[in-house]
Amino acid sequence: MRTGIFGGTFDPPHNGHVAALREFAERCRLDRVFVIPTGVPPHKNSGTTSDKDRLEMSKIAFSGIQGAMLCDYEIKKGGKSYTVETLEWLKEKFPGDSLVLYTGSDMFLSLHTWYKPERILALCSVAAFTRTGDDTDALLKQADFLKEKYGAKTEVYPFSPEVISSSSVRSLLETGGDFYAYVPKGVAEYIETRSLYGFDVYPIKKTLRERLSEKRFSHSLGVAKTAKKLASLYGADGKKAEIAGLLHDITKNLGPEEQIRFCKENGIELTEDDINSPQVIHAVTGAWFIKNRLGITDADIVSAARYHTTGRKGITLLEKIIYVSDFTEPTRDYSDVDYYRELSLRDLDRALFEGMRWIIEDKRKKGEPVHKDTLEMYDEYIKNGYR
Ligand SMILES: [Fe+2]
Ligand SMILES: [Fe+2]
Repeated sequence: MRTGIFGGTFDPPHNGHVAALREFAERCRLDRVFVIPTGVPPHKNSGTTSDKDRLEMSKIAFSGIQGAMLCDYEIKKGGKSYTVETLEWLKEKFPGDSLVLYTGSDMFLSLHTWYKPERILALCSVAAFTRTGDDTDALLKQADFLKEKYGAKTEVYPFSPEVISSSSVRSLLETGGDFYAYVPKGVAEYIETRSLYGFDVYPIKKTLRERLSEKRFSHSLGVAKTAKKLASLYGADGKKAEIAGLLHDITKNLGPEEQIRFCKENGIELTEDDINSPQVIHAVTGAWFIKNRLGITDADIVSAARYHTTGRKGITLLEKIIYVSDFTEPTRDYSDVDYYRELSLRDLDRALFEGMRWIIEDKRKKGEPVHKDTLEMYDEYIKNGYR
């Protein structure tokens, strides 16, 4: 039997993996191939996805490939997985088999630095697949080196799989991008059903991505991330903080006149103060949009968006978190931002008070009106001893 070994983290398995496995099985004329999701990989940090989910997704992704068999040896063993140990185990279990190890370009080029390379190369032959075609020379050179030093049996195959990686699939999921094109349909469905990689907020991010400029989109992701962190520090609901952070500027793409028109069309009432502070109106329309267009009726989320620019008297914890995250999130780069970031982690109210005081002073300097809600919040903090 020619038995292939195809290992990986598969977090998640993607179309590139499927194409590579198919290529491996055909080119190397394998009778069967063990797909082995790694336990905790020696060269990478472990992901956040559970072993069970990676195993299930791998089962789904590779089920259509002739001779592919899922092997949970490394996951069951737990801890760091060393290729040499897996090979020893396979050799013992299937002594008559000739083992062929799949390696991508990077893996093959670093093979001599792995744990016990001489033993690995005694236990199996190695199939190396080029990534782009222009790395062929480097791979052939490495094959010569491994043969000379360890008597390795290697074969180098040209192959150009899709340029995709699990981390780029994760980052598409993280940013509401189109990950569907890069993973097998069943894997996408599994991600949806089990809400992996933050899929619960994926549709929101997708909506945001469509509505906002790139800069505003990154800002919103930043506010969500910061709000989640502050929520865990100050005991607020992390999921609500994340959603409110994502959505707080949802209508910010509309210009001042469009904001007014949006209010008129939808029967949204504006106060005299709102009209005098046009930059505030997107908070009013945003809250309305979240509730009425997106159907997110959670009062905490809606009010956190509603008061994110002005604050208000009796401001709630979640409202404070969004207010502060808005000016401390990672893409903000004004001169004192590090001071406010650090302060927000120590003392949320102090950060809010100082941020608000700065805004009030700035507006007064510019001769712009300060919104009534902000002034009432300020008075309340002063009454509570803030200076
Ligand atoms: Fe805003
Ligand atoms: Fe904002």
